[in-house]
Amino acid sequence: MEKQLADLQQAALAAIAESNALSGLQDLKVQYLGKKGALTAFLRGMGGLAPEERPRIGQLVNDVRQVLEQAIAEKEAGLAKQALAHKLASERIDITLPGRKPELGHRHPITLTMDRIKRTFMRMGFEIAEGPEIENDYFNFEVLNLPKDHPARDMQDSFYFSDEFLLRTHTSPVQARMMQSQPPNTPIRMIAPGKVYRRDYDATHSPMFHQVEGLVVDKQISLGDLKGTLEAFLKEIFGSSVRVRLRPSFFPFTEPSAEVDVSCVICGGVGCRVCKQSGWLEILGSGMVHPRVLEMSGYDPELVSGFAFGMGVERIAMLYYGIDDLRLFFENDLRFIRQF
Ligand code: DAH
Repeated sequence: MEKQLADLQQAALAAIAESNALSGLQDLKVQYLGKKGALTAFLRGMGGLAPEERPRIGQLVNDVRQVLEQAIAEKEAGLAKQALAHKLASERIDITLPGRKPELGHRHPITLTMDRIKRTFMRMGFEIAEGPEIENDYFNFEVLNLPKDHPARDMQDSFYFSDEFLLRTHTSPVQARMMQSQPPNTPIRMIAPGKVYRRDYDATHSPMFHQVEGLVVDKQISLGDLKGTLEAFLKEIFGSSVRVRLRPSFFPFTEPSAEVDVSCVICGGVGCRVCKQSGWLEILGSGMVHPRVLEMSGYDPELVSGFAFGMGVERIAMLYYGIDDLRLFFENDLRFIRQF
């Protein structure tokens, strides 16, 4: 009996020493110390012993149990320590590696241009107004003196949702919205930047583009105010050496109307491919607000007058940065975008 116990202890200790996983150790625990384990079987077998032998053998079995329990506990601790050491080694962070630079984005050239335009007008005391991109026929055309069947509507072929609603074709409707949002004849000095939509797509036209509208209304506003304001603005954008000229034109919502040109910013006015040898670049449309437009939005043309203008932001950005195809702005090619 003693010999058997001694063999069992030796075999168990050897198995424990060899075990190199916590799960295997668990199995050994069950195998030797469990309810149906080898030691329990020994205790059960004591029935066949002489009564005076039992306490001694019982004591021996308990000694073996204690030895094995301790061996298992020690091995368990050893394996856990080893696992931790392994984990620490494999997850080590090399703090001497150079850091990874977070890639910083930046603003799109259209946004940059828009911001410069806004900043320039804000310094001249203009406030910024906004209107909806889904506009109705009344604000987009009617109240701007463009009645149904007016031929000028054709220049702004657009996207319609229904007879009444469309994607606005210009930012001019914000003029009327502004006047109608406040008591009649309240002075106005605003710009309205935003997206507009037309059915065009080529190197100089895209179905969505950006405009900045301007409106100034007060007592005794004159064509001189229009010219002075736009000249100050254009010199700020393109540099103080540009020359500005007004050319008679037509818009249904202004009378008189003028196209505003700057001396070519590419060749300085000598004549080149961009200005088609004319030395001048058409930059924006403008004019004195038509009395009927004032009237339709509740203002009294006998009391106040005003000027208005509208410009395409893409065109200004193209001239400013020397870009010859507008589609580049919207293709999101990083090789293009990263240059700004
Ligand atoms: N709304 C015109 C367009 O999109 C631009 C324009 C011209 C706006 C003259 C004005 C203006 O306010 O007075 O073509």
